[in-house]
Amino acid sequence: MAAKILVTGGTGYIGSHTVVELQQSGYDVVVVDDLSNSSIDVLDNIEKISGIKPAFEQLNLADAVKTDEFFSKNTDIAAIIHFAASKAVGESVQIPLHYYRNNLVSLMNILDCQLKYNIPNIVFSSSCTVYGQPEVLPVTEKTPRKDAESPYGNTKRVNEDILNDSIKAYPQLKGIALRYFNPIGAHPTALIGELPLGVPQNLVPFITQTAAGLRDELKVFGDDYDTVDGSAVRDYINVVDLAKAHVVAIARLLENKNKAGYEIFNLGTGNGYSVLEIVKGFEKATGVKLNYQIVERRAGDIEKIWADTTYANEELGWKAEKGLEETLRSAWNWEKRVRGIQ
Ligand code: UD1
Repeated sequence: MAAKILVTGGTGYIGSHTVVELQQSGYDVVVVDDLSNSSIDVLDNIEKISGIKPAFEQLNLADAVKTDEFFSKNTDIAAIIHFAASKAVGESVQIPLHYYRNNLVSLMNILDCQLKYNIPNIVFSSSCTVYGQPEVLPVTEKTPRKDAESPYGNTKRVNEDILNDSIKAYPQLKGIALRYFNPIGAHPTALIGELPLGVPQNLVPFITQTAAGLRDELKVFGDDYDTVDGSAVRDYINVVDLAKAHVVAIARLLENKNKAGYEIFNLGTGNGYSVLEIVKGFEKATGVKLNYQIVERRAGDIEKIWADTTYANEELGWKAEKGLEETLRSAWNWEKRVRGIQ
């Protein structure tokens, strides 16, 4: 029988792509989401891609009673991928208690239930934000973490510690923290993708919405960084490549291939691109001209970061495969489908 995997936040951006990859690898997926930042319709689109509509429960995992109730009915779960979290950096500065409660309590509730219902395996969605601005590039998993710039970033750091400390205390638990660099793009079918509520804060959704005519112009935050052209540099990774890494991480845990109870992997491409390179790459990939203006740096932004992917490549046997232009084209195809543009 196929192993049953719980995907929390499975109707969200990275979650939905991961559900599809898990299903296509033969896993039986159950999704939990509170739908605070996603739509139930995503499940239908997942079904259009994979042919299988995942089981679904609407639930906020910060609610301990409801979380326990859910697990008591699903004791056959073999592993969990925990995506569900609030993720807007700016908002986290305005309402930190919401972020700490939602993001930390949900992980603790899940870990309680893992112990109670004997579910050993968890993969946690972390972020390269835990490195801050590193002294040395590219960053390896051994690069020291820095104090977070925002409550959101701090929830990633503290959740890594909660996981690590819990695994140390309860050896029946095993976990992998995946530190994502900048996930972009959409499924090649354009049936699932990133759908931000309101004005997008992240670069690529802002670019595609500008190209679609929803925004007048892209603001490029800063051109006086110490980079190739002065704009900030990130490691942009295709969301399908990222989703596939989760399938590998799950297999690693289920097959007991992990080298330690708690492991960390960087998920990036190993390449850094500047904001202006992304703008030009988008124009080249899609043939659409973008309106943009250079403005002041954005508070809290770092100058440059990209991943050393050696450990993930060698130890997981996983590598990001899709190129930047293909990825930017997939983001545009998704935006066009959502907006009904031919
Ligand atoms: C941000 C968060 C990171 C989080 C990730 C989630 C910060 C400091 N980091 O990453 O913790 O995990 O989102 O997706 O907020 N840019 C523009 N114009 C725009 C939007 C962005 O020039 O309208 C630039 C930014 O200044 C940055 C780059 O594009 O240099 C990427 O920005 P973004 O997509 O917001 O990602 P990060 O800031 O790297």
